[in-house]
Amino acid sequence: MERTFVMVKPDGVERGLVGEIIGRIEAKGFKLVGLKMLKLSQAMAERHYAEHRGKPFFQELVDFITSSPVVAMVWEGNGVIESVRKLMGKTNPLEAEPGTIRGDFGIYISKNIIHGSDSPESAAREIEIFFRPDELVEYQRSLDKWIF
Ligand code: TYD
Ligand code: MG
Repeated sequence: MERTFVMVKPDGVERGLVGEIIGRIEAKGFKLVGLKMLKLSQAMAERHYAEHRGKPFFQELVDFITSSPVVAMVWEGNGVIESVRKLMGKTNPLEAEPGTIRGDFGIYISKNIIHGSDSPESAAREIEIFFRPDELVEYQRSLDKWIF
């Protein structure tokens, strides 16, 4: 079953948006299979955002993501990677549609509340950075006969 890595960034945690964000992904029908709160180390942040190393915003991004705790999650379900990206909205919250998480709650591209993997390869790589295999929980929901 497809899985994605989702992270409520420090601004989302400090603004009290953790419940709102989990609620939106839950309500869509996806299954939460991993969850933890942590403060990222510099090394972990640089590894997670390795693709952006060398870009002008990289240092600000690493400083921001390590500044305060994040909530890291793994969500499972049919089409979850692309669907969570849609729920998040565009990277720049001013361009993100109302109704999306970034469109509803953000103003600045550098403080855009949520991260979600952009491909199966990114998802596998990012999940491995944040979770040991035994931290991901396998379980059945009775509603999985309706949402599978
Ligand atoms: P990116 O992977 O392009 O966006 P997304 O989070 O939608 O996958 O960029 C990673 C993060 O870097 C982005 O969420 C916010 C930050 N960022 C900036 O601060 N400035 C920028 O110009 C870009 C492109 C990203
Ligand atoms: Mg990205």
